[in-house]
Amino acid sequence: MSTNITFTMIKPDAVADGHIGAILGKISGAGFKIKALKLTQLTVADAQKFYEVHAERPFYGELVDFMSSGPIVAAVLEGENAVESFRSLIGATNPAEAAEGTIRKMFAKSIGENAVHGSDSDENAQIEAAFHFAGKEIF
Ligand code: PPS
Repeated sequence: MSTNITFTMIKPDAVADGHIGAILGKISGAGFKIKALKLTQLTVADAQKFYEVHAERPFYGELVDFMSSGPIVAAVLEGENAVESFRSLIGATNPAEAAEGTIRKMFAKSIGENAVHGSDSDENAQIEAAFHFAGKEIF
């Protein structure tokens, strides 16, 4: 196994519900090192660009509206086999299908408002980190 990075967002639902501290605690407790971190808000254009790979999917408009609806926390995380192990920590996209103890099982409301994002490949982790952070903001 190698140490590499993944990118995450704590989504507007979980920020609005006051779960930033608990979710960052779960992330740190699982052994991830925080390499970059900020509270920010996506514009509609930012969200359209970030999720453009899903532009043809029926929920795209809803996803863009939701992700630009309020503050998020963006972070770059380092860990062993980071992309896959972080996706295990957050659980299935649909919280109804997420395993007990996962972040989405604990904090997500629905398949749309599902508390956290996690990159789905090493390549996308790099792209997503660069979308949100300048090089000098990643430590
Ligand atoms: S994944 O993780 O990419 O395999 O999941 P996927 O099912 O392809 O979903 C991609 C992102 O779209 C969000 N999503 C939805 N939003 C609103 N409504 C519905 N029905 C819906 N289904 C999926 C899902 O949360 C994923 O967002 P991210 O930020 O990547 O987790």
